[in-house]
Amino acid sequence: MRTLLVIVLGATILSAADKTKSIETKTKVHRLASQQRSAFDAFVYINRIPEKTMDGELPEDFAGRIYGRLANQEGRILLKLPPTMDRKAYFGFKTFLGSEGDAKVANCVSCHSSPSFTDGKSHVVSQGGAAKPTPSLRNSKLSAADLEKVVREKMALSKLKKSGGAPKLAEAYARIVITDADVANLVAFLATLKDVDDKRFRELIIDAKVFDATQPAPVELPATPPVLSGVVRLEGKPPGRRRLNMTSESARLYQKMPLDENVLVGKNGGLANVFVYAKRGVERKQYSVPEKPALLDQQKSMFRPRIQGVRVGQKFIIRNSDPYIHNTRSLSLRNRMFNVGQPPRSADRERVFKRAEGPISLGCDFHKWMAAWIFVVDHPFFAVTDANGNFEIKGLPRGDYTLEAWHEEYGDQRLKVTTAPSGKTELNFEFKSKNQ
Ligand code: HEC
Repeated sequence: MRTLLVIVLGATILSAADKTKSIETKTKVHRLASQQRSAFDAFVYINRIPEKTMDGELPEDFAGRIYGRLANQEGRILLKLPPTMDRKAYFGFKTFLGSEGDAKVANCVSCHSSPSFTDGKSHVVSQGGAAKPTPSLRNSKLSAADLEKVVREKMALSKLKKSGGAPKLAEAYARIVITDADVANLVAFLATLKDVDDKRFRELIIDAKVFDATQPAPVELPATPPVLSGVVRLEGKPPGRRRLNMTSESARLYQKMPLDENVLVGKNGGLANVFVYAKRGVERKQYSVPEKPALLDQQKSMFRPRIQGVRVGQKFIIRNSDPYIHNTRSLSLRNRMFNVGQPPRSADRERVFKRAEGPISLGCDFHKWMAAWIFVVDHPFFAVTDANGNFEIKGLPRGDYTLEAWHEEYGDQRLKVTTAPSGKTELNFEFKSKNQ
């Protein structure tokens, strides 16, 4: 018999009547006067930022009024940013306005005044050129790279103007003060001026998150992060692998009784399952924790993976994929110990570690051969060696570090390293086999 799958697509179609309704009712957001629909407008709406100049108000006074509002909100951590408007864009907006506390600096707002981001006038903004109308900066077709070019051009012209080298150039260019560090922020801000549809606009408002402007910027990894890599080798003859003494229930899942995985050696003596991490020298910072949980799976009566790094504060999921019961018992010193029993088909369980610690050993009381280890780390600079003993740690900034390599049979080893200016550093570990 054939099974017919009927998929009903629910389509929401805006009727003609909807189109005539005010945007306010369509988005179900009240007190919305503006017709503009960008992330920036959502930001303006949520934080009640003054939208336009009052009669006769100068751009710098308008900017001052906004600065006052922002300072007040920043101090009380009341600001909210819609998704797609990030910290960079926020500071870019401030740079766009001018400079807090110095009314002589009126960067962009003197000509590109909100809400339309044009003053409707013409200005000479090129050396020897004619006056040109100020374009609106909303929905710009320019790419981020082109926007950056425009900003840098304006910076250069402003310098020329200040030195008296361009008398015809618009006077406003003499009042622009932007440093290299501001450019990326300004470009991020300009990107928030792209319109979205009503549905998305509503989401931008509803999903806005509290933003603490007083917190230092989170650490950003460079585009080509430095890499610390190497090989962990086992010198000498590796021990023979023994057949696991599995119970018949577990053994049923295998054709041949599996071998132990205590010491796995690959190409050229490379030692697998070594946890390598920066033990000392890492700058104490708030490194963002992956949203993706770490996973420990119980598969065919083995813990998978056998060893892994988990971040402090990261979700750690424990799963039983087997058709019989397992439990996961942790032996930790600095974190609360746990013993999680999971009958077949039971739901995933979740733990979060509060403190850096490692190795924490994990075992199963029903199946004594099951073993796993985790390192709880408060930074992202760690790796586990692959089948051939290779590891790679990305993003470790230049500096002096102590790296530790830990293996379940051979214990730990530490090496000091100064990461290379080229961004590529090599570091190899060697453990000695006990079977000489
Ligand atoms: C003196 C008034 C004035 C000031 C101040 C000014 N601009 Fe402009 N801007 C213009 C004019 C006029 C043009 C159009 C130039 C042209 O058509 O060649 C322009 C063009 C641009 C464009 C290109 C838009 C497009 O889509 O083609 C961007 C982006 C821009 N300005 C951003 C800024 C930023 C950012 C600042 C502050 C650093 C700033 N402007 C300061 C007058 C000004």
